[in-house]
Amino acid sequence: MTKLLHDTREEIAEAAALLRAGELVAFPTETVYGLGADARRADSVRAVFAAKGRPADNPLIVHIADMEMLPEIASEIPEIALRLSKAFWPGPLTMVLPKQPVIPEVTSGGLDTVGIRMPSHPVARALIAASGCPIAAPSANRSGRPSPTTAKHVMDDMDGRIAAVLDGGQCEVGVESTVICFDDAETIHILRPGLISAEDLAPYAERVYVDKAIFEQIAPDVKVASPGMKYKHYAPKAKILPVDAPDFDAFSAYVLAHAQEDTWCLLFDADPEIPGVKAMRYGDDGAAQAHDLFLRFRELDEAGAGTVYVRMPRKTGVDLSVYNRLMRAAGFEVITV
Ligand code: TXA
Ligand code: MG
Repeated sequence: MTKLLHDTREEIAEAAALLRAGELVAFPTETVYGLGADARRADSVRAVFAAKGRPADNPLIVHIADMEMLPEIASEIPEIALRLSKAFWPGPLTMVLPKQPVIPEVTSGGLDTVGIRMPSHPVARALIAASGCPIAAPSANRSGRPSPTTAKHVMDDMDGRIAAVLDGGQCEVGVESTVICFDDAETIHILRPGLISAEDLAPYAERVYVDKAIFEQIAPDVKVASPGMKYKHYAPKAKILPVDAPDFDAFSAYVLAHAQEDTWCLLFDADPEIPGVKAMRYGDDGAAQAHDLFLRFRELDEAGAGTVYVRMPRKTGVDLSVYNRLMRAAGFEVITV
């Protein structure tokens, strides 16, 4: 049985004690719920991989509560990382840095680097502080499922597999953190887009670029900069089909010509209805779409959707994070009309 804990001081202390004892606790962050373990304990981190059904070469992000914890985890901290930490931490930015030996290879997926972030969610920060542990935490979904943005989603995936879920309400951002590494002292390489966009990062470096794996499917034999890029992700059971259409009328005409009994649409808020076709909506701008996307994926499964035609997000700013999650859910298959 997985215990549901609330975000009171006593129950956060209870969650912290479980982590210190080597148990797994899911907890809220501003992005999505994380499945936490003491990042230094190989046995606990192995249990995270087992509970998720996650491939062993896909490294975890280590969460810290303050800057004092950073040199305990990272063996080198370049000046650019300090600059970015001042601008964006606490917040949804993960930086890949060389790791200290205290971080076992199981946490870093066998790499000599580690992804580190300081979350801004008060419950996440209180939990790290109360436990005194750097917390390794992937998103708290079963591998391949949409990331959870409520404690109920975590329970749906993890009940009976982990010690506890700490309920901190609905996550604000809705998609996972922006993951970056540094190719050199002045180059930011975006491995996974998130709320903090290339445009947001641009003032802090000479160069910022987005890995090409964000835009296209990577062949299985190609070596990628971030192992998570290889895996199909974020997918509901329904077949997700993004439709690249010049406007709503072209989108709607395509859907009407192809709709079946279990067809749904995922529309922008401003779109009109498509007569006779069931629809959910996911906002008009990138931030709203990021907040709602994984939520809608889970709702579409509950509604029994078979095929879902989705209006295409833009590819700039925070919208790129939505585009990326949608492409991953669709296996990069797009219908162009
Ligand atoms: O917002 C988030 O980042 C959430 C919350 C819980 O903090 N966590 C999360 O973790 O999304 P996860 O495990 O689902 O995704 C971690 C991503 C993967 O794509 C992984 O490949 C990449 O970060 N990553 C982690 N460490 C890395 C490293 N050393 N080098 C390259 N990529 C790394
Ligand atoms: Mg994940």
